[in-house]
Amino acid sequence: MTVIRQRPWALPDSAATDESVYRSRRTILKALGFGPLITAAGGVPALAAAAPDPTGDLYPPTRNLRYRLDRPLTEEKYAVTYNNFYEFGSHKGISDTAQAMKLRPWEIKIDGLVEKEMTIGFDELIRKMPLEERVYRHRCVEAWSMAVPWSGFALKALVDFAKPLGAAKYLQMETLVDKETMPGLSASWYPWPYTEGLTIAEATNELAFIATGLYGKPIPKQNGAALRLAVPWKYGFKSIKSIVRFHFTEQRPISFWETILANEYGFWANVNPEVDHARWSQATERVLGTNDRVPTLLYNGYGEFVADLYKDMKGEKLFM
Ligand code: MTE
Repeated sequence: MTVIRQRPWALPDSAATDESVYRSRRTILKALGFGPLITAAGGVPALAAAAPDPTGDLYPPTRNLRYRLDRPLTEEKYAVTYNNFYEFGSHKGISDTAQAMKLRPWEIKIDGLVEKEMTIGFDELIRKMPLEERVYRHRCVEAWSMAVPWSGFALKALVDFAKPLGAAKYLQMETLVDKETMPGLSASWYPWPYTEGLTIAEATNELAFIATGLYGKPIPKQNGAALRLAVPWKYGFKSIKSIVRFHFTEQRPISFWETILANEYGFWANVNPEVDHARWSQATERVLGTNDRVPTLLYNGYGEFVADLYKDMKGEKLFM
């Protein structure tokens, strides 16, 4: 039997932080007098609604009916209180802590192999993009899933706007680093900033989406404000949050998780129920907010859109 040593930085096993445990944590916080931060609805942080958002008038955009779900939408209260965002802590209950993140100014750098490098403010960028709403499934590598309505725009629109040069083969994205508001950054064994990458073919695939909103409103901080990636055929760790840099490059980037544990979190990370994670099965997934466990689908059910991207890639570890 292979014994795998647990490392302090490893993503937790699928059993980690059961929702009932998380919920009782909030009950304890309330009893300790932190009640005002918790709404009667059972978890959506009150501070999230505090400051008016300068892009609020853009929501909700029209839903694109091309993308459909095979399951009910996850209730909002679960999607916004059960999060992975290591910059704020390595547990699921970071939604209150994340409210400290400053969203303005939010400057985005577009650089590397592009016609003209630039820095552009989020409020300017978003008004140049074709906004729409899409309902997507999201499958975390930890074997839980949700189905949510993202608002935002096709990543292809941003790639077109950036005008990459012919030599650009990959798009690397980078998350904000702000030591003042992100306590998770003090975990110095992690290779901050959080980065992720796609091939240009993946980035311009119609499914690749930049989410700026969730449930018809600007996206909450804990879900990756001001803008985050949503690539629903890949495990959730590819969907990088709170992006401040889009870097076009010739070389395949090595992501945050790949730097840490390359044999568990590879570059491609496409969802496949038949390829186990080194420490658990990927055959099924727990549906967030329910007690249901359902079969996981190849490419998370999005094969008709993306399988062709990989048809000639022999010898690549496409599913881990
Ligand atoms: N992006 C950053 N910057 N930091 C993170 O820790 N976690 C990833 C991904 N993007 C993460 C991130 C993982 S593991 C998942 S499953 C999703 O965000 C979770 O997104 P959600 O909290 O909106 O469900």
